[in-house]
Amino acid sequence: MKDIVDRIYERQNIEFEEFKEIMNFDEAQREYLCEKARERSIESFGNYIYLRGLIEISSYCANDCLYCGIRRSNRNAERYRLDKDDILECCKMGYGLGFRTFVLQGGEDGYYTDAVMSDIVYSIKNLFPSCAVTLSLGERSRESYKMLFDAGADRYLLRHETANEEHYGRLHPKNMSLKNRKKCLFDLKALGYQVGCGIMVGSPYQSIENIYEDILFMKELEPHMIGIGPFIRHKDTPFRDFPDGGVRETLLLLSVLRLIFPKALLPATTALGTLDPMGREKGILAGANVLMPNLSPVGVRKKYSLYDNKICTGEEAAECSRCLRRRIESIGYRVSETRGDYGQINIHVNDKES
Ligand code: 5AD
Ligand code: FES
Repeated sequence: MKDIVDRIYERQNIEFEEFKEIMNFDEAQREYLCEKARERSIESFGNYIYLRGLIEISSYCANDCLYCGIRRSNRNAERYRLDKDDILECCKMGYGLGFRTFVLQGGEDGYYTDAVMSDIVYSIKNLFPSCAVTLSLGERSRESYKMLFDAGADRYLLRHETANEEHYGRLHPKNMSLKNRKKCLFDLKALGYQVGCGIMVGSPYQSIENIYEDILFMKELEPHMIGIGPFIRHKDTPFRDFPDGGVRETLLLLSVLRLIFPKALLPATTALGTLDPMGREKGILAGANVLMPNLSPVGVRKKYSLYDNKICTGEEAAECSRCLRRRIESIGYRVSETRGDYGQINIHVNDKES
């Protein structure tokens, strides 16, 4: 078992048979894998964790992904959107709390035209020139991505969800295609964004072969960030009766990804924290190095309901920030005060003993 882990550690590559064996690891084996992943993480980032303040700007969505609670056909979803002033208010709050990256995430909402969105991005960059702006607004045209990049956006998160055509078709309505999803990601990269892809672990119909295909796709895309979290059912979606994804599987995959992508930004996600009260800490100890505390106004948090029982919906931004800092320190890590750009974040490494 050790030799599999050591081999992946050395080669930064994994065969399907090895991956299958890893997904069947027992606790002791998982602990060794975790240790090696942690070692890689510390080597790349020191014991620093990067915070990204998440602002959930809209629960309107024109799409109808079968897993998602804010899908268009969910009549029970409460819809809201934040305007420019609301968003700037969140950024001010976040800046005061020490965040240097703002992630603007929302459903595919026609309100945010290229003009509206460019103005928002431009205004944030103007008020907070030292901060990075990350967008997570779904599929848009290359022209749109270009405009937003020119307005100052630095990064874009768009999970590919699955790299297998057939699986993609079972998670999404007919009018969506894996081909376009991938095109978006390659466009974003070509335009100069730092790009994040990712999947849900344990999504309906997902096989271990599918996850291996995801890893191959990631090797091809070479993303700067990889967001993975467990699938969690939402009661008002067609997937309401499917089981939640596994915390164990998510942690195993996080460790594998850390070994294959030593410098990738890997968040320990809110979904992981939702299925296990210590999920985010476990994620960091398995090789993750990013946390995304919620900066959205408390009044809208419950409405941005992608899955059931989401944590942190009653807490103010300041509380979440304090809570996460404490959690990070409790496991021997600390919060980075930098923007945490890909490839530039090992500047801390030398002071990790101080
Ligand atoms: N469970 C877990 N994650 C989900 N997402 C959407 N719905 C769910 C769910 N039910 C994830 C998707 C999307 C990201 C914003 O949230 O992967 O890309
Ligand atoms: Fe939100 Fe702990 S991170 S309450």
